[in-house]
Amino acid sequence: MIYGIGTDICDVRRIRASLERHGERFAQKVLADGELATWKARSERWPERGIRYLATRFSAKEAFSKAIGLGMRMPMTWKLCEVIKLPSGQPAIRLHGELKEWFEQKGLQAHLSVTDESDYAASFCVVERKE
Ligand SMILES: CC(C)(COP(=O)(O)OP(=O)(O)OC[C@H]1O[C@@H](n2cnc3c(N)ncnc32)[C@H](O)[C@@H]1OP(=O)(O)O)[C@@H](O)C(=O)NCCC(=O)NCCS
Repeated sequence: MIYGIGTDICDVRRIRASLERHGERFAQKVLADGELATWKARSERWPERGIRYLATRFSAKEAFSKAIGLGMRMPMTWKLCEVIKLPSGQPAIRLHGELKEWFEQKGLQAHLSVTDESDYAASFCVVERKE
């Protein structure tokens, strides 16, 4: 049964500006530890790829926060929601801490899709309640 859906569109130029203004501190605020390592590796090789990676993660987390109906309110936080990649390349959500407990207690499962093109990154998230 569908529990909730969430969508988000993120302006990549805003993410670029925040990174220019706040530097790595901005990435540290938005990204979970595993994501931060990937972001650093990508940014070192090609800064633009780092910006796009951060923008898609930003939009995915906002879409997830809407799908669970909380928005960015506890126990939903940027860092407790990690976007991972499955071996096939498909993105998936891995939760941590209090958010993971809250989510599992409700018997929920998330499905995520992300995309980006020139100035925008967008995500769509479906959360279902397991039977
Ligand atoms: C959901 C949230 C992450 C989106 O923020 P944003 O990036 O600024 O805005 P977006 O344009 O991407 O999304 C806004 C839409 O999210 C939806 N939305 C808001 N709260 C939501 C929630 N708890 N669950 C699902 N969707 C929500 C609404 O449809 C809203 O559009 P509307 O105001 O025109 O109805 C943010 O609003 C939030 O964290 N809200 C929770 C905290 C909160 O409510 N603070 C204000 C208290 S008055």
